[in-house]
Formats: sequence, C-alpha cells, structure tokens
Amino acid sequence: MRIGVLTGGGDCPGLNAVIRAVTKSLLRQCGAEVVGIEDGFAGLMGERPHTRALDWDSVSGILMRGGTILGTSNRANPLASEATAAQTLAHVRALGLDALVAIGGDGTMAIAHGLAERGLPVVGVPKTIDNDIVGCERSFGFDTAVATVTEALERVQTTGQSHGRVMIVETMGRYAGWIALEAGLAGAADAILLPEIDYDLAAVAALCRERETRQRYTVVCIGEGAKPRGGAMTVERRIADSPDPVRLGGVAHALREQLQPLLRSEVRATVLGHVQRGGVPTPFDRVLATQFGNQAAQLVMAGRYNQMVTLQGGRLGSVPLAEVAHQHRNVPLDHPLLQAARQIGVALGD
Ligand code: F6P
Repeated sequence: MRIGVLTGGGDCPGLNAVIRAVTKSLLRQCGAEVVGIEDGFAGLMGERPHTRALDWDSVSGILMRGGTILGTSNRANPLASEATAAQTLAHVRALGLDALVAIGGDGTMAIAHGLAERGLPVVGVPKTIDNDIVGCERSFGFDTAVATVTEALERVQTTGQSHGRVMIVETMGRYAGWIALEAGLAGAADAILLPEIDYDLAAVAALCRERETRQRYTVVCIGEGAKPRGGAMTVERRIADSPDPVRLGGVAHALREQLQPLLRSEVRATVLGHVQRGGVPTPFDRVLATQFGNQAAQLVMAGRYNQMVTLQGGRLGSVPLAEVAHQHRNVPLDHPLLQAARQIGVALGD
C-alpha cells in the first residue's frame, strides 16, 4: 500500500505530531509506503508533484516541533476547475497512491470531499486553532493557542493596571469565538466579545467607566470576528485565489476608536495574530494530534475512506466528509462557559 499525506490550509501546532503518528502507525502495522506531499494541495498541482518519502527516521524527533515539516498552502485549490481537479488526480495516479490523508481545516475538508467525489480515496484529519470544525469537539492546536492568548492577557493585565488603561486584546478564531472565550476566562478578562454575540458599544463603555472609578483598568478579550450591533466584521484583506478569501483582523483597533471618545482613560489595542499559531504544541495537543494521526491510519487500513476523524464525547470516531465540508462550529448561545462567564460577572458585551 502507498499512502500520501499532506497538510493544507493555515498551519497549526500539532501538525507534525499527526504526520508522525500517521506515518509510524502505517509503517508499523501494515508496512505501507508513506509519501509526504509538499505544500498542501499545491504539491499535487502544477507541472509535476512535489513529494518526499516519509520513513521512520524522517518523522522521528518532530513530535514537539511547531508548524509542518511538509509545508502548507492556503491558496492551492484543485477544485478551482475540472482541469485542475483532473490534473491533481493524474498526479495521484502517477505517484501510485492508493489513498490520501489530508490534514487540514474546513477548506481542506471541502477539497478532500470534492476529490473523494471524483474517485480519490481520502481520509481527513481536522486541524485548526479555531476549534470550529463540525463533528470535532476539540481540535489540536486550540489548546496551544488558548495558552498563548492566556499568557498575553496576563501580561496585558499588569501593564494595564500600572497605567490605568483599557487594554483590548484581539484573538484569532475567524467566525467562531472559542479562543476568545476560553482564553478570556483563563486570562481573567473583564469583557469577552465573540462573533456569536454582537456587542453593544454602550454596554462595553459602561463597564469600562465603572472600572475606571474602582479598579482603574479593564481588559477586553475580543475575537477577530466580533462586530458591534448593527455593524459588520472587520476584514483586513481579501485573497482572491484562496478557497476562503476573507482574512479578518483589526477589530481591536476599531473598538479602540469607538470606545476612546466615551472614556477618560486611555484605550490601547493589541492584535496577537500569528503568534497564536506558531511555536511548540502543548502536551495536550501533542497527545490529541497523535491520537488523530493514529485514528487516520486505522481508517486507511480498514479501507474506510471519505471520512474525517472526529472526537465526540471524548471518543475518537469518524464522519463522512460530506457531513462536515463547508461548515463551521460556532459557540452555541447556551454553552455552559457563556453561562459561567455571566454568572461570575464577566461582560459578554450584550
Ligand atoms: O483558521 C486559522 C486562522 O489562524 C484563523 O484564526 C485566522 O483568521 C486565519 O487562519 C488567518 O489566516 P492567514 O494565516 O492566511 O492570515
């Protein structure tokens, strides 16, 4: 058996742990040949495929390394046209691959599903720091991102306190507020603003004013997809040839501009950006990614294709790619963490 492995979309701590586990599991259990596809689906497009052999030695020592040894791309889209899809499938045939393990986010799962519909046996492994993949209650990379944001909030607390400022910290997460919610709680934010709950500027300003007279400082943790009531999300840029062209970013600065005229104290904004995606995965993410990689190998060996690895109720499983492609998992408005936040007096901006 010859199995291809690729990482697609934005990178994420824990990708190397998945590559290592898929490879070691396949090598050890069925002696498969494992072929690493370089730079995501870009490695299966163009004039010739870009690959490297993955053997025991080449995946040893990478468990705790951030990023992906295979490289990734969030622009390459084999489904851009029937011609590019046909070219990708031709490369797969030329490489002699029996199946492909695609590690990625919702964009990668949508492409994997499209290729599966065109006859390619695929297993998907969900990856995103955003924790927003349907069918997966915890994606690897999320824990690492939450740890990074939590540390940033802790640091911002002390300087905000010293200067008596309102400190706004913007997290990644796209249209889902999981990172902002969990890190905001862990980092003792006074207000947590999520894409799922449009914020009321007057309510946020009232909270800051009240704290101006007592604690003197306020920390606001805001997800990049959050928006004011009646307003729009803050789009940083559009990347025309990407399967998901919208890049969010800058809502912390927008909120700073809105809040400043309403307050006495200075308002400062910090956009954390890609520091949330870089660096070594936490032990939790290393273990989760290892489990996901091994589970993908089990699906391949069982011939259970066109499925994505899942984690539901703490148990590993799989769902058909068709059920997860093109979807997001948002924070439900009745989520226990939202309720707990309200009950301990954390403002949610509504
Ligand atoms: O989906 C992961 C993610 O890090 C989002 O949280 C963020 O909006 C986006 O990717 C950033 O993408 P890029 O690295 O292309 O700017």
